[in-house]
Amino acid sequence: MCGIVGYFGEEDAIKHVMEGLRRLEYRGYDSAGISYHDAKQKDLLVFKETGRLDNLARLLPPDESRVAIGHTRWATHGRVTKANAHPHVSHDGRFIVVHNGIIENHKALAGTYLEDVPRRSATDTEIIADLLGSFVGDGDVLTALRRVLGLLEGSYALLVMDREHPGTIYAAKRKSPLLVGRKGRETIIASDMTALCAVAAEYTALTDGSIVTIDEEGLSLHDHEGELVRPEFVPVDKAYAETDKGVFDHYMLKEIHEQPAVLRRIIDQYCEDEESRIPKDVAAMFQGIERLHILAAGTSMHAGLVGKVLFEKLARIPTEVHIASEFAHHPPLLAEGSLFLLISQSGETADLRSSLEIIKERGFPSLILTNVKTSTLAREADAYLEIFAGPEIAVASTKAYTAQIAVLAVLAHAVGEGGISLRKEVALAAQAIENHLQDRHIYADLVDRHLKKPQAFYIGRGLDHAVAREAALKLKEISYIHTEGFAAGELKHGTIALIEDQVPVIAIVTEEKTAAHTRSAIAEVESRGADVVVIAMAHVAEEGDHIIIDTINPLLTPLVSVIPAQLIAYHAALARGKDIDKPRNLAKSVTVE
Ligand code: F6R
Repeated sequence: MCGIVGYFGEEDAIKHVMEGLRRLEYRGYDSAGISYHDAKQKDLLVFKETGRLDNLARLLPPDESRVAIGHTRWATHGRVTKANAHPHVSHDGRFIVVHNGIIENHKALAGTYLEDVPRRSATDTEIIADLLGSFVGDGDVLTALRRVLGLLEGSYALLVMDREHPGTIYAAKRKSPLLVGRKGRETIIASDMTALCAVAAEYTALTDGSIVTIDEEGLSLHDHEGELVRPEFVPVDKAYAETDKGVFDHYMLKEIHEQPAVLRRIIDQYCEDEESRIPKDVAAMFQGIERLHILAAGTSMHAGLVGKVLFEKLARIPTEVHIASEFAHHPPLLAEGSLFLLISQSGETADLRSSLEIIKERGFPSLILTNVKTSTLAREADAYLEIFAGPEIAVASTKAYTAQIAVLAVLAHAVGEGGISLRKEVALAAQAIENHLQDRHIYADLVDRHLKKPQAFYIGRGLDHAVAREAALKLKEISYIHTEGFAAGELKHGTIALIEDQVPVIAIVTEEKTAAHTRSAIAEVESRGADVVVIAMAHVAEEGDHIIIDTINPLLTPLVSVIPAQLIAYHAALARGKDIDKPRNLAKSVTVE
């Protein structure tokens, strides 16, 4: 999704903003722009371009500046054009704005206040610049900005520069994240920790309704009531500064390989020998609840499907899983005694934020599992648990999925009756992943032989079905092969009509109880010409199975059975020459509904 970076300080602001934008590339974008103060021309210059940041970099003269703001855009309103890229300049040329989020009432505002001002772009952002230009008159910028913000419906994180005060950056936010970092006399503002941490030693996360002004005098912060307040800075987590690919060609491959270490980190954090180290207030939230509702989107929702089984089996708590975007608009009947568990790698997903509003309105408690403890949802939910996956840069989520499942297992185990040595079982899963990663060399050939068609299916039962759905998402999102994940027994109720010669069907078989049934489904599709690939756990494997993974605890099988699916997706995308870490149309953190 869109990214924002602003810099004010003694070093070159253009360099820092461009570097910050590069660090935000992983979020997904389709155009980029920058504005900076040019001391020689005594003006604010604006450059923008579609496509990659390199296209923008090529436009920039060899200038240096002390003040700059920049943006990467992921189109929501208006096509990918230079005119729609940020920064946007007000109709009078005075104000320059970059914006993340969506202004829902932009058309109504244009009709009411800007009837005579022609629209120069198809974006909702231009309206912010134009309203500022219209409202400021002879007055001060902060008053005009407050008036504009008071009219906006929707979400925003924005930076503003003013040609009449070219050495000043204004920043404001509602619902979209914005962090202000500093080191000595340098200030950097960004929508994401990854962009901030190369410069900042400490940071503060702005709260909704606050406005920050940065200029020669320093930094001043006004809260939502307009009161001048002292910002509270905390040290930057330097883990976010390490964003290189190491020995790997892609972040996705690096992150796949990090999974054993992530699982070990989770058990170190949350399991002290056999004792749980889940914070007491979090464990207390589960006391006496009648029903657990898990809410999430995409891969995190697929982790939630595994979570349902873990909570029902380990803690005997009836659990429902909801797609966040559905829950936000069609919440089901909710009974007293419900607890809401949100799962979000980024902690910024807009569908979850809308769902959380409903949960809070109705007075239910909420807990979020997230990878980003500085995220908006971590602040807005009643409590959060970190999943300790470390920064996930590839758009396709891998290590966050296994980390979410491991933390769900630890949590379900902690609030349930125990019974298994979770520390040992997760450690065995980590070892099994490590063992399988040694076999990575088989995948290029396997993909070459079996994934020739533009469509594919994953099938499985129980937890294998949950993994089949995640496996299908992984394959389709980075290789663009149309893939669906099905319950193995459901295929014959309609979808089997799509099976013809050479269509790949990848079966996941880890569950002893249903292995024979899944084998029947395999026989059914095979007899209709499907090209079957079997991923089997050692204890249920048969002669001729293509991928064998080590046997681990039956409740934790997704931690290991998803690894072949991640590698198949990676190699299929590699063989097709796709942009593995930044698949088309996708964003890492989906901050719009
Ligand atoms: C797919 C993927 C997405 C995210 C989804 C939710 O690989 O990463 O499906 O899982 O957009 O994002 P978070 O977990 O940040 O709420």
